[in-house]
Amino acid sequence: MGSFKEGLEDVVVSTSEICFIDGREGRLLYRGYDVDDLVQHAPFEEVVYLLWHGALPNLKERDAHVKALSSTANRRLHPKLIAMLRQLPKKTTPMEVLRTGVSALSAFDPDAADNSREATVRKAIRITAQMPTLVAAWERLRRGKPPVAPNPKLGLAANFLYMLTGKKPTDLAAKTVDVALTLHADHEFNASTFAARVTAATLSDIHSAIVSGIGALKGPLHGGANEQVMLMVEQIKTPERAEAWIKKALADKARVMGFGHRVYRVEDPRAKHLRRLATELGQQAGKPHYVEILNTVARVVSEEKKIYPNVDLYSGAAYAAMGIPTDQFTPIFAISRVVGWAAHVLEQHAHNRLIRPRAEYTGPTRKTYVPIDQR
Ligand SMILES: CC(C)(COP(=O)(O)OP(=O)(O)OC[C@H]1O[C@@H](n2cnc3c(N)ncnc32)[C@H](O)[C@@H]1OP(=O)(O)O)[C@@H](O)C(=O)NCCC(=O)NCCS
Repeated sequence: MGSFKEGLEDVVVSTSEICFIDGREGRLLYRGYDVDDLVQHAPFEEVVYLLWHGALPNLKERDAHVKALSSTANRRLHPKLIAMLRQLPKKTTPMEVLRTGVSALSAFDPDAADNSREATVRKAIRITAQMPTLVAAWERLRRGKPPVAPNPKLGLAANFLYMLTGKKPTDLAAKTVDVALTLHADHEFNASTFAARVTAATLSDIHSAIVSGIGALKGPLHGGANEQVMLMVEQIKTPERAEAWIKKALADKARVMGFGHRVYRVEDPRAKHLRRLATELGQQAGKPHYVEILNTVARVVSEEKKIYPNVDLYSGAAYAAMGIPTDQFTPIFAISRVVGWAAHVLEQHAHNRLIRPRAEYTGPTRKTYVPIDQR
């Protein structure tokens, strides 16, 4: 068999019209629009429409789309699903709950068996509307509190924070989550999106594809990195200790979470937005040291290793400044990336071919069967 690249590095497996990454210039486009422009001008809901439908919505389309994403009917969880969550041990991690919960959502979805584009868009709306409710409900339940019902007057980001805490968030907190959701929404053929596409390519349904995506996102080399970054910040404790700590970690050949990327050779274009918002939130919350620690770590890693911050370096500092627990960082990534997964499921179904690569076999051949009593 021909040559291959470990980890499918630089292998192009399909065409796609959804997302473009320029790894040398550090640019990221959704359907042709630079994310730098989108975070400045578009609320997350518009980005959702753009990714699924290929164009920004006009006023009428925007209103209908926002209404569908915000309606209580689409956001609420079936009481049986809440009852199911109550059965889970309190120690179940939020990513485990999300994986199990999204799988269970399909049992209550009226379109579960219909894989047409129209039904898949309807399911995508419901899953995108329900995932924040699921994440927030588990946070409440594991603390022994009742879930907070969604508020249809609030946008997706503000409503998520509201359901998490029971209080209306500050404008800065809601804006930060809205921007973070836009920045995490899609990233070409990243590991979780590829997993979702592989599942969709068997002509399986969108719930199954999204469960595949959640499973892949959970790992520390992908979405799980933002949680690991915060654990590092907690270990470093103070900005004064940061330089010596990270120099020792590099000398010990540690893999530093929140740095490096398969595609970017410069700083990830999403990092600067999250750095700015995390700095503002940290100052407002009286916790500026998170970003100060990360800035020192970033300077040393960039100088010594020529490896630059990725999307996961600063997001956790922003969430932590809002008081969100560390193990909820990756679920927040998921409630955004579900939009990208859904866009890719729609694209895969529209031009489908089963994804089935080959392996270069390196095991033994022509072994002779040995009866069990002679082994
Ligand atoms: C994202 C990531 C998995 C990409 O991995 P990859 O393309 O397979 O790159 P490799 O793991 O082969 O790394 C290439 C080289 O850079 C080094 N490197 C890459 N990321 C590194 C990091 N975060 N810390 C320390 N060294 C790193 C590797 O040690 C390797 O060096 P070597 O060639 O001397 O062995 C990797 O950069 C990483 O593990 N980052 C930390 C986890 C993270 O933040 N993930 C979120 C991504 S958005």
